[in-house]
Amino acid sequence: MTALPDHALTVTTPSGNYSVIVESGALSRLPAALEALGVRGALWLICDRAIEERYAQPLAQQLRAIGQRVQVFAVTGETSKDLSVAMQLYTWLIAGGVERRDTILALGGGVVGDLAGFVAATILRGIAFIQLPTTLLAMVDSAIGGKTGVNHPLGKNLIGAFHQPQLVLSDTDLLQSLPARELRSGWAEVMKHGVIRDVGLFEALEQDSGVKPSQPGITSAPDQHFTSDPLRLAALIRRAVKVKVDIVNIDERETGERMLLNYGHTLGHAVEAAAGYGALLHGEAIAIGMDLEAQLAERLGMVDQAFVLRQRALLQALGLPTELPHDMQAEAVLALTLRDKKVKAGKIRWVLPNGLGSAVVRDDLPESLVRTILIGRG
Ligand code: GLY
Repeated sequence: MTALPDHALTVTTPSGNYSVIVESGALSRLPAALEALGVRGALWLICDRAIEERYAQPLAQQLRAIGQRVQVFAVTGETSKDLSVAMQLYTWLIAGGVERRDTILALGGGVVGDLAGFVAATILRGIAFIQLPTTLLAMVDSAIGGKTGVNHPLGKNLIGAFHQPQLVLSDTDLLQSLPARELRSGWAEVMKHGVIRDVGLFEALEQDSGVKPSQPGITSAPDQHFTSDPLRLAALIRRAVKVKVDIVNIDERETGERMLLNYGHTLGHAVEAAAGYGALLHGEAIAIGMDLEAQLAERLGMVDQAFVLRQRALLQALGLPTELPHDMQAEAVLALTLRDKKVKAGKIRWVLPNGLGSAVVRDDLPESLVRTILIGRG
């Protein structure tokens, strides 16, 4: 198996260039890729405990069989994105004799990728790492672009560093064992990439989910469509990944274009927090945020009602929510959104669509408009 297929995408940033490979069976390229990257030191495999037996230990065995020195450390759940767990990892690495030429492998979802990347960014002032994402959300978003970090009790992702991986290998076969709800949550981010940048991706999702744009609400079950053809699945994910890669290539440090990836996230984060972390999956909260933020754009005359309905039809066809949960107070979501404003020096930067496949950043929205959209539904 060669290191690079023809369809590999390339991230090109001032901090470094690397390939992103999305395909069925991608993990089998890892040995050749390590060789091509000239990796000589030890490998430190950090994984999610839920997949340790199924994927991490067999991968470690395969790498040992070709002469690599590999150690494995498993972490558990969202709470592991914490400095205390980073400290455990530092101790494991230092006690195990980590050297600067070594490489960390991050096998898991966004939590593992962000945590392992942060540890790689900081141990010995930074060592190499490779992202091996196992969830759809990590494949299309968090594993690409070098954002690493941990949470602080006062907010998520407040401690971190930009540290680009050496390679991202996304093996779409691993999605087969992902719970259906988590997979659906990932489709929210795929769809977001379509809305902000790629009409063709949006249309492909409509086609594959059975939604008829002219008849919103007429759909067939999403889970049957999206996993049935591995080649089609990988091609769709690759298309969403290309949106992220293109944006990171323009704006690694999020001074402009990269903010567009936050579509649905301003209200989505508030909804996620109002539900209590863990009650709604990230993509579910972002789906609700996208619906609300599309309504904001409609009120501002940036899109028409047909856009809002078309986006809602696809979100629903993908099995995602578009309304606040019944027991959620819209006032609480508003309060959390405004609290976010304080963190961002008084101005919320809204990412709003101004047509399908296009979005802009606006920081001039009156609070009353946000109140109307939220409380009007409350
Ligand atoms: N997850 C958004 C970004 O990487 O910029």
